[in-house]
Amino acid sequence: MRRLALLLVAFLIAAPGETLTGTVVDETGRPVEGARVRLRASETFVVTGADGRFVLADRTSAPEREITAALPGHIIAGATLKSGVFDYRIQLTAIPPGDDATYPWVTAIPEDDQAPHTDFGREPCGACHRRILAEWQESAHARAATNARFLAFFDGRHSLSFKRSNPVTSDSCGNCHTPMAAGEDPRQATGVGAEGVGCDLCHKIAAARPGEADRTGIRAVDLRRPPFGRQTVFGPFDDVPRGRDAFAPVYSESRYCASCHQQRVGGVSVYSEFEEWQASRFAAAGITCQSCHMRGDGKATTMSDLGPGRIERAASTLSSHRFHDSRSADLLETAVALTLSARIDGDAVVADVEIANLGTGHHLPAGSPMRHMLVLVSADADGAPLTRIDGPALPEWAGDMHGKPGRGFAKLLGDRGVVPTPAWQATALVSDTRVPAGDRDRSQYRFRLDRPGAARIGAVLMIRRTFPAWATTAGTDVGEIVVARRTVLLAR
Ligand code: HEC
Ligand code: HEC
Ligand code: HEC
Ligand code: HEC
Ligand code: HEC
Repeated sequence: MRRLALLLVAFLIAAPGETLTGTVVDETGRPVEGARVRLRASETFVVTGADGRFVLADRTSAPEREITAALPGHIIAGATLKSGVFDYRIQLTAIPPGDDATYPWVTAIPEDDQAPHTDFGREPCGACHRRILAEWQESAHARAATNARFLAFFDGRHSLSFKRSNPVTSDSCGNCHTPMAAGEDPRQATGVGAEGVGCDLCHKIAAARPGEADRTGIRAVDLRRPPFGRQTVFGPFDDVPRGRDAFAPVYSESRYCASCHQQRVGGVSVYSEFEEWQASRFAAAGITCQSCHMRGDGKATTMSDLGPGRIERAASTLSSHRFHDSRSADLLETAVALTLSARIDGDAVVADVEIANLGTGHHLPAGSPMRHMLVLVSADADGAPLTRIDGPALPEWAGDMHGKPGRGFAKLLGDRGVVPTPAWQATALVSDTRVPAGDRDRSQYRFRLDRPGAARIGAVLMIRRTFPAWATTAGTDVGEIVVARRTVLLAR
């Protein structure tokens, strides 16, 4: 009886008209195993078996009247649903092996507001993807080639510059900063090469091999640039059956970012977000770089504003190309907490400061080793500052803040007793006082209360992009960002 009921249920699920079946085959007609098949834009997918067969249970849930099939290394294919047809055959085409280094990169930026005429080949990516273009233009990636601070340390004509210490090599910085002009001097980058980390470069990455043989940037990825007259775009979606899109799972993985956000030079850790992330609880929880830095606005429902084959999608499936950074207040707000409490203790004021790295997926602060964070603590009464009698003071590298009450957090590299030293001159990691993901830093300060009136205690947390002395030498700015401020008033 129970068996009969089960059979009946199975029959109902598979009722004719509801179920779709089919086979995914390659160019030669052989069945393809492991292909992802879905009703386009629906939430779930099935995977083909050794016979290339698939069964899609509920045809009525198809948001679009299309089935798509995808396999890494192949162009995504699709079939339009026809009434009365319940079995489909979908043919996948393999992407030709190899990378054509003569491929001219496509620009992100359209010349005017004209709608594009064709979908193929060389139209600027931003002509159709207008929202994404605007987000990317706000991001550090769009400025990687032209960033004045990068160029100041690359070139410089000063003692700290890369070119000073390595006059003959020019391309190692460019592997990450000017990947579309790699091998050239970044100062000479023009046209699409000056777009830094651009759309076309990022979407020609088929796989990533971070950390292999000290390779970084575009030397740590498999680029698949198509031969003349063809176009292939790699991406995170498996249901874009326009004939030139390829599904690559690496787009949703942190290792994709690691190609450029992880670097050791001669054993010295320079860029380290990826390894710090790997050791954090975020890696175990499957929260990737993309989850935080490409978190979508929750409003956009299309990935392209124009172009054939464009459909509406759930906002939660789309991401932002702003690559949120420490200049995005909403990224920092929930990630970093500054707490200040203060009390009067006899003839002194005692201040307790805590910095919690609640929600960055790596050490705080992240980025290049010259990036650092300061918490500056102050106390005054009757309009004049109180003297610190106990508690830490800011180190020498804090420049104008040196000696003031507070704590400094930095990864310091050195070379034969000189600390800090720029990454390209360093031979050792000397110290790392940054706050690991999930950790807290606590410090206590005592000020002499030798003045009448209410006491005001303050704490300011700031991130600076380079050391003040280096900014002066290189002729650039420290790029200070105030992360949080706290004040406590003690009436007397
Ligand atoms: C630093 C590399 C990088 C750059 C630069 C970049 N992308 Fe992406 N793009 C990605 C990654 C990674 C994803 C997947 C995001 C995810 O899974 O959350 C993605 C996703 C997409 C998607 C799929 C839709 C979505 O919301 O996920 C489109 C379309 C896209 N990018 C177009 C562009 C265009 C157009 C540009 C230039 C204006 C661009 N990308 C620049 C890495 C990049
Ligand atoms: C003529 C308009 C047009 C141009 C130009 C264009 N795209 Fe697209 N792109 C689209 C449309 C439409 C889609 C599919 C949207 C959908 O599925 O809703 C798309 C999809 C994508 C995807 C998703 C692929 C996947 O499987 O995840 C990526 C990535 C992408 N485009 C990147 C680019 C890049 C990089 C360029 C420039 C080299 C570019 N596009 C140029 C219209 C365009
Ligand atoms: C091809 C190399 C490359 C890839 C791939 C890449 N990045 Fe970057 N990224 C850079 C470079 C170079 C910079 C620094 C640009 C500058 O400030 O001059 C940067 C800057 C950033 C910043 C801003 C840092 C700051 O100082 O404000 C964030 C955030 C970021 N990337 C996140 C990501 C994420 C997330 C991914 C993966 C989806 C990724 N990047 C992939 C090269 C890359
Ligand atoms: C749980 C969310 C989260 C995850 C996961 C995460 N980050 Fe971050 N990231 C942040 C926050 C918040 C900041 C801002 C604080 C700071 O600058 O250190 C930040 C800062 C950065 C910065 C410096 C930005 C700046 O303006 O100084 C870079 C570069 C960066 N992250 C890259 C990565 C990479 C690469 C990964 C993956 C390996 C990653 N992040 C994973 C939240 C995250
Ligand atoms: C492995 C890839 C990679 C290489 C190689 C690389 N960088 Fe970077 N660089 C990055 C990333 C990622 C960032 C973004 C994190 C940050 O802003 O600190 C960055 C940021 C910077 C910054 C800070 C920019 C700012 O506005 O705060 C400077 C300066 C810089 N790089 C200089 C150099 C120089 C000089 C070289 C060559 C010796 C070099 N980089 C080589 C990936 C790289």
